[in-house]
Amino acid sequence: MANTQELMQQIQAFDESKAGVKGLIDDGITKVPSMFICKPDHPSAEDISGKPGHNDHQLDIPVVDLGDVAAGRPSKVIEDIRHAAESVGFFHVVNHGVPKRVLEEMLEGIRGFHELPREVKAEYYTRDPMRKVKYFSSYNLYKSRAWRDSLFCDMMAPEPLDPQELPPVCRDITMEYTNEMHKLGVTLFELLSEALGLKSDHLEGLDCAKEHLIAAHYYPPCPEPELTIGTGKHSDGTFITLLLQDHIGGLQVLHENQWIDVVPVPGSVIVNIGNFMQIISNDKFVSVDHRVLAKKEGPRVSVGFFFKHADTSSRLYEPSKELISKENPPIYRTMTMKEYFVEYHKNILNGVFALESLKV
Ligand code: OGA
Ligand code: NI
Repeated sequence: MANTQELMQQIQAFDESKAGVKGLIDDGITKVPSMFICKPDHPSAEDISGKPGHNDHQLDIPVVDLGDVAAGRPSKVIEDIRHAAESVGFFHVVNHGVPKRVLEEMLEGIRGFHELPREVKAEYYTRDPMRKVKYFSSYNLYKSRAWRDSLFCDMMAPEPLDPQELPPVCRDITMEYTNEMHKLGVTLFELLSEALGLKSDHLEGLDCAKEHLIAAHYYPPCPEPELTIGTGKHSDGTFITLLLQDHIGGLQVLHENQWIDVVPVPGSVIVNIGNFMQIISNDKFVSVDHRVLAKKEGPRVSVGFFFKHADTSSRLYEPSKELISKENPPIYRTMTMKEYFVEYHKNILNGVFALESLKV
């Protein structure tokens, strides 16, 4: 096993190669390099041990048919969304109005980016917080590493992104996809508002649908998947995340202490309740932990479309006053994004659920 100094050198060399995990596969490695091995004493060790406990009652992630709104059954849709957001925190939407072509081309465009020649892709490899479009492997290589490369596109910080900043291979489709996801987001925020028993424009009134960050992931095939992880256990620091995944699978959500597979549903978009929706809803809706297993099959491509405000936003976030009463006091304190992130990063390190420390 590599000692600490060797490990640090390995991490540094990997980062400086700017070639990502994809680069390792292109180099023909047949073993997972030690820097990617999640050791038993690693805080995320439990995350790689397959399915903890028995998985007797395999649960299906709910599928919500948005076509029921146009078919004159909006209350059924609102009821389905309420149930899914209260129980699992994850659901598929189908008949969502986003053309199948747009979903397919987005996955293809993102795959195209990650499969560019390494010298071309290297120009985008940076961890500079000022760069709106960038790619790298793992959020913080020195804290924990995952078998994944990710392209980030900050579509609005603080002004709308100039499309010219996007890589040509996925430029047009990323703009089209953003437009479609924004429209779908507006619809979902209306339905989620109603599912909370609020006026349909409540969440949009908080600007929930306004700002977007795209995290477009590429999970190369892994020669020893049981030794590492695609994405470690986490919950999303968003209002909601709209997730598009291809047919490979590997995404799991934690439900009643069991990892449940989010089996791909062709043509669906996955809705994931984020931390801020849990705060605004005063725990009525749940933002759950999820992860992605590394797999022998691949590559796997997925696109997270994050509805969130800038990390530097000075807005205040709190449980909605309309949901608060004597019987239902606020569970979370009022906070800025900055306060949230201080807690988030503190807690991500020691593995405690970030929201716990934001309670009143
Ligand atoms: C994320 C995420 C899951 C996936 O980007 O936050 O959880 O399937 N992605 O890639
Ligand atoms: Ni996530």
